[in-house]
Amino acid sequence: MIQRHTLGKVPAKPHTAFYDEDHQLLMEVCVTRQGFSGPFSILYYRRPPTDEAVAEPYTLPDFSPITSMDGQDLRRRHVVSSRLPPGGDFLTGRKTLLFNSDVHMGICKPVDPPGRFFSNGDGDELYFINAGSGFVESVYGILPFRRHDYVLIPKSTPYRIHLDGDKGTLLIFEGRPWLGIPGEYRNRSGQLTDYAPFSHRDFRLPAELLSFDPDRHGPPPYPLVVKRGDALTVHRYDYWPHDVVGWDGAIYPVAFNILDFQPKTGLVHLPPTIHTTFAGDGFVVCSFVPRMVDFHEQAVPCPYGHASADMDEILYYVDGNFTSRRGIQPESISLHPAGILHGPHPGMFEKSIGTKRTNELAVMCDTYKPLHMTTAAADLEDNDYHASWLK
Ligand SMILES: [Fe+2]
Repeated sequence: MIQRHTLGKVPAKPHTAFYDEDHQLLMEVCVTRQGFSGPFSILYYRRPPTDEAVAEPYTLPDFSPITSMDGQDLRRRHVVSSRLPPGGDFLTGRKTLLFNSDVHMGICKPVDPPGRFFSNGDGDELYFINAGSGFVESVYGILPFRRHDYVLIPKSTPYRIHLDGDKGTLLIFEGRPWLGIPGEYRNRSGQLTDYAPFSHRDFRLPAELLSFDPDRHGPPPYPLVVKRGDALTVHRYDYWPHDVVGWDGAIYPVAFNILDFQPKTGLVHLPPTIHTTFAGDGFVVCSFVPRMVDFHEQAVPCPYGHASADMDEILYYVDGNFTSRRGIQPESISLHPAGILHGPHPGMFEKSIGTKRTNELAVMCDTYKPLHMTTAAADLEDNDYHASWLK
């Protein structure tokens, strides 16, 4: 995602015969984007990952297929995701709450060790780890993560997520077909510019290949669940299918802690655009982190009322006192749709004058296409939110 990287053994030239220590020919697999014109990685497998014994339809309630709520009238909405009970593993516990054709957003609060591996054929996935720590197992290796990390998993990567103590709260974005570093943060060589809000050093990569572990991976068959077109299939292998001796390329999972995001402060209030962290087609993901606020003597640090007439806005509240809101809590998700105004709650605008810092921590997603709420989101909704500006 950031630069070419190599882990393990690769031959001197791509597309040449390459053998393991037992003189077995290894299977070269190229993962490519945008046909064969975009970023790619080349992996070397001990066993061809194309030899699954069984492929059949698979179902996970509330994850796929997705059900829209009935009658989503136009108003400001508040989904209280803290009400979502923990359950399942990183996949079976995943609930999609909001979606359009460019991006899906959901929550997962796993309590079980991970079962099957998963590969998302619809898009890149971005996790935000609100609570918990652990590691990702993928064909690119082991990637540890900690609280408040973003974890970016490329489209079509077989992986699964382990949580320390099998407990955590994960916010999930699925960018269709992609989600990654905004192009404006790169120079013509692809390097991150020095004025981007993060540097290459902030991104952590897999540092250890994934090895078969009979205790962790168990006996065959080995299921891989694949999502494509929001339909799931399970592919069962009679052998361990993720045995990679090495890879190189520009596609691999990365972790980035939100507190490593470098916010900018202006003379007066700067729009949310400056908080953009990741982007996809038709949407952006932004990070609001603790920071100094505007330094004009008469500055109003609280965001002004606004009608971002082309975009729906989701805010996921993580921690701290959010400058413009009351009545929300950690894990609250506000949906402020295009077509109607939104702005600070009464009193918050005045209260912000003269403040020097904010300790808010939140993740925002703005989308061009309208967001639909699922029935899982409707079950968690605070129906009094739209009128809460009157109180
Ligand atoms: Fe807004």
